[in-house]
Amino acid sequence: MVVQEAKLVVRNLSVYYGDFPALSSIDLSIPFGAATAVIGGSGAGKSSLLRSLCRMNELWDNVRTEGQVLLDGQDIYDPDVDVTEVRRRV
Ligand SMILES: Nc1ncnc2c1ncn2[C@@H]1O[C@H](COP(=O)(O)OP(=O)(O)O)[C@@H](O)[C@H]1O
Ligand SMILES: [Mg+2]
Repeated sequence: MVVQEAKLVVRNLSVYYGDFPALSSIDLSIPFGAATAVIGGSGAGKSSLLRSLCRMNELWDNVRTEGQVLLDGQDIYDPDVDVTEVRRRV
């Protein structure tokens, strides 16, 4: 098996809607060029996870995101990141 380099790395990601923790301390790694599935029951947090990978959660004003999402090694939550460009790449 060929070991693929991670394209996207999530470290210690938590997402809160107000005080409600929708995601708690998620770690995962998504390789380049492979299909990756996110599976879980209704309300498990799939949409919250996917939105957090392209900074779409912050479109709600009661959302708080903690942790890192590294795209090609760069944290997309860095304050100087161009959000539109990040969303296009993700
Ligand atoms: N904008 C929001 N405001 C408050 N709670 C939310 C919001 N979006 C999702 N939630 C809650 O977060 C949890 C995860 O939801 P979601 O990410 O939509 O799960 P899934 O996509 O797996 O069904 C659920 O309990 C849901 O009610
Ligand atoms: Mg969903």
